[in-house]
Amino acid sequence: MKKTVVVRFILNGEEVEARVDPEITLLRYLRDVQRLTGTKNGCSTNHCGACMVLVDGIPTKSCLLRLNRVAGKKVETIEGLSKPEELHPIQAAFLAIGAVQCGFCTPGMIISVKGMLDRHPEPIAEQIREALKDNICRCTGYVKIIDAVKLAARWIRHP
Ligand code: FES
Ligand code: FES
Repeated sequence: MKKTVVVRFILNGEEVEARVDPEITLLRYLRDVQRLTGTKNGCSTNHCGACMVLVDGIPTKSCLLRLNRVAGKKVETIEGLSKPEELHPIQAAFLAIGAVQCGFCTPGMIISVKGMLDRHPEPIAEQIREALKDNICRCTGYVKIIDAVKLAARWIRHP
């Protein structure tokens, strides 16, 4: 019989008890078991940032992270950011500025931005660049993304 482990953690505010193969990654669990497909699989090698989620508030790539590494922690995915009837201000700012082209990188970008803005509500340019350094976008050239981050920061500070 195949070995399983039990991993308990908080996923988007809800307690989860996962009985899984000890080798399963957080990304595979999110996408294949929870069907939270907003977290993308761009490379599976820790390079592109499409798989970014928040682990205890820290932007973290999930594609090589074993699920058992998040035991007892809080995991937040892009699905946890917005309510069905209302986008998160970061999502709204990305749309308002036109910082989305194909959109594949966007959930990971938004997660990285959320982690940064929670710590730096009034970020300087260097903090924005640092926050996005692990997120690759092949479409936008980043200028609009940085503008969207500045707008989101303003909207969060002055709702
Ligand atoms: S899918 Fe994880 S870094 Fe690319
Ligand atoms: S919008 Fe296409 S990869 Fe970023």
